[in-house]
Amino acid sequence: MDEVIKKRVFSGVQPTGKVTLGNYLGAIRNWKPLQEEYDCLYCVVDLHSLTVTQVPAELRKNTMDLVALYIACGIDPSKSALFIQSHVHEHAELAWILDTIAYVGELNRMTQFKDKSRKHADNINMGLMNYPVLMASDILLYQTDVVPVGKDQVQHLELARDIAQRFNARYSDTFVVPEGLLSKSGQSIKSLQDPGAKMSKSDPNDNALISLTDDADTIRRKLRRAVTDSDTCVRHGADKPAITNLLNIYTLCSGLSIADAEKTFEGKGYGEFKDAVADAVISVVEPIQAEQKRLLRDKAYLESVLKQGADKASYLAQKTLSKVYRKIGLIPRIR
Ligand code: TYM
Repeated sequence: MDEVIKKRVFSGVQPTGKVTLGNYLGAIRNWKPLQEEYDCLYCVVDLHSLTVTQVPAELRKNTMDLVALYIACGIDPSKSALFIQSHVHEHAELAWILDTIAYVGELNRMTQFKDKSRKHADNINMGLMNYPVLMASDILLYQTDVVPVGKDQVQHLELARDIAQRFNARYSDTFVVPEGLLSKSGQSIKSLQDPGAKMSKSDPNDNALISLTDDADTIRRKLRRAVTDSDTCVRHGADKPAITNLLNIYTLCSGLSIADAEKTFEGKGYGEFKDAVADAVISVVEPIQAEQKRLLRDKAYLESVLKQGADKASYLAQKTLSKVYRKIGLIPRIR
């Protein structure tokens, strides 16, 4: 019988600081169900995190914390390859080739580059500008079909598609042109202090974000302090950005529909609503934290998962990279 070839999924999160509820609801949470249907690779993108100055010991800790978090969020290492980006050297090598395909003009126009350049004006390094090229390399290296990400990464994904198409046009069909996959209501979880901005790991105001490491009291306090809209009605709508954000969080964490949630809080105040949002978030976050803690005590297991993940990823990456080298005219090394 013919073997059914599954389509491929690739995604990643940077091991920088606190992973937020936005990262979880916009991305990681959506990875688990994909494992049933797709051949999935989930990566801790440590090289990307170097575009902002890191403390080495913290980077090491954040990387292993994130590996454990992936598993605690339902990534099953027997189904998916879970690995660290720097363990597969082909990512950086393909990024160099793609650097010769990407244009300075298009990288200069990337919203994230402009934002981060403003935030880190003292460290606008070349890596910051090349960030989307390395991301394109991550994706194209595995002939990825589907990339589950939050809305803020759509522009980078479009660039990866452009780079793939440009390369294919110049050197003949080489890369699969990937598609993005966005979560319905979680694609852009907003700051609790400014619903016009996304919830971001690097927000200097800790009250603006919920970290997956926050304890129950902290989560409740931050939600109680979350800004609201001018009237007192719990309703979803473009004219109510703050409550819409809280409703998105609430429904994603409780499993209720927006309509049911609106009905539940009809005639009730924001205080009661915010407490219910807190209960729903805590019920999602606490089991993940407990499982992450348990996994972090088993270093040998995590290392075996990473070895297995990197072995599989390396095999696939090497196949694509040698194809690319051949197509562009580099002479293969004799072994
Ligand atoms: P990072 O770590 O900044 O974000 C990880 C994922 O979380 C999503 N996200 C959000 N989703 C909803 N609401 C938010 N407030 C929110 N904040 C972040 C991001 O869209 C992302 O999906 N560049 C990627 C990492 C990466 C990658 C890749 C992703 C590197 N190579 C290849 C996919 C494929 C990033 O944004 O990491």
